[in-house]
Amino acid sequence: MSYSLPGPKSKAIFERGLSTLRHGSRYTKAAAQSAAKGYLPPAQIIVDRAAGDFIWDSDGNRFIDFQNGWATNPLGNCHPEIIEAVHQAHQRYGYHWEHPLRAELAEKLVGIMPDSSLSRFSYEVSGTEAAESAIHLALCHKQRRYIISFTSCFHGEGLGTKMVSAYNSDNNKFMEGWAGGVIKAPYPYSENIPAGMTQEQYVEYCLWYLENHITDFITPADNIAAVIIEPGLAEGGNWIPSKDFIQGIRRICNNHDWLMIADEVLTGVGRTGKMWGIQHYDVTPDILVAGKNLSGGIEPCAGVAARDEILGDNPRATAGSTFAGTPAGCAAALKTLEIYQRDNIIDHAEKLGTIAQQRMANWQSQYGIVGEVRSLGLLLGVSFKAEKAQEEDFYIARSVRNHMLNHGVWAICDSEPTVRMYPALNMAEANLLEGLDIMEAAIAEIDNNGATVGDYPPLPSGNTGF
Ligand SMILES: Cc1ncc(COP(=O)(O)O)c(C=O)c1O
Repeated sequence: MSYSLPGPKSKAIFERGLSTLRHGSRYTKAAAQSAAKGYLPPAQIIVDRAAGDFIWDSDGNRFIDFQNGWATNPLGNCHPEIIEAVHQAHQRYGYHWEHPLRAELAEKLVGIMPDSSLSRFSYEVSGTEAAESAIHLALCHKQRRYIISFTSCFHGEGLGTKMVSAYNSDNNKFMEGWAGGVIKAPYPYSENIPAGMTQEQYVEYCLWYLENHITDFITPADNIAAVIIEPGLAEGGNWIPSKDFIQGIRRICNNHDWLMIADEVLTGVGRTGKMWGIQHYDVTPDILVAGKNLSGGIEPCAGVAARDEILGDNPRATAGSTFAGTPAGCAAALKTLEIYQRDNIIDHAEKLGTIAQQRMANWQSQYGIVGEVRSLGLLLGVSFKAEKAQEEDFYIARSVRNHMLNHGVWAICDSEPTVRMYPALNMAEANLLEGLDIMEAAIAEIDNNGATVGDYPPLPSGNTGF
């Protein structure tokens, strides 16, 4: 199977948006830049319909879905039971703030938290709002001014979360003045470690920076409210932190009297093969941020869980935009969690994660272009490196992703030289393995013949760039 993308119908829809949508012309520029370097234009699709493990583009081409609505469809595309629950909530309540599902879902959520101390829940619409709310809550609770976040982390696209996030310095250009309350600490990546340090030494360095450098040279410890961390630095390239690192953060937070915020928007609700990513580390955060999977992929639902004294009575920490905790969003989450329990979804995700890990285990030794295979449950990523001087790591990753798409697998390659995959937690094993077979064929092809696309700066996921 080999597609030529975009197909004519997708292309026509895509061209419609060129003059009106944000970044409408970015694809054209990227394609021209790619061509100028002697490469192909990046492949792209417009989704026509979606069901279970698959999506179809407007030209009728079918794809195994490893992109998963940017990791938001834990039970596959368009789950009929969740759609029905949402439909019923819409019919019964329309939109009102004061509805019974709000309390029902909060009860369920505090019941599945990594620790019973996280006993309260506050609703938001998106992961971005939830992360901002968690930060605001921490500042108000501690009555302090600073938050510590990590290099390459991603917490959202609001003004506050843009400041806390740290893809790269260019990302925050022109907004530097807004970031006064954020201190960025180094994250212990497993590749490109500086000064010939081992991974363990680098983890130690990052913890030393957090514990000593910041408090000795940037601001005293009692000015800092919280450390915000993803227990799996997802958008930044699916980096999986070591137990020493996450437990070290908890220890330092305790020593310095800082709150620990786990942003589980992407790692949470089963993505890593446990209900919460932080459970891999035997650590309890003070505040936990949830989103994405919680909605079942159908209707937005996000929020913040925290200890009673943090979220129970803090009049300064206002939260919740108009559509936070809609009846339909709560209904989607309630039905999603009901199906998780009924169908042992987390166990299935853990099993699939092991299968994927085993399937990808030899890629690093087998293919020169593979930098690292990283996975935690179904948070899957393969990083790439260029072997020829004139190529860039990013082009290799983008070319592998392009080849996968042309052969029927939809995955993410964003601003890192990494192809990231977020299969549904209930994906059929055969579909997962077929997708990984196609991925390996793509890697073998690019390993043999070099990069085929060279668009930079990157388009979101190599698609339309809208
Ligand atoms: C860790 C993390 N936090 C927050 C967000 C923002 O969530 P949303 O896009 O739903 O606003 C994301 C989105 O990818 C994320 O990965």
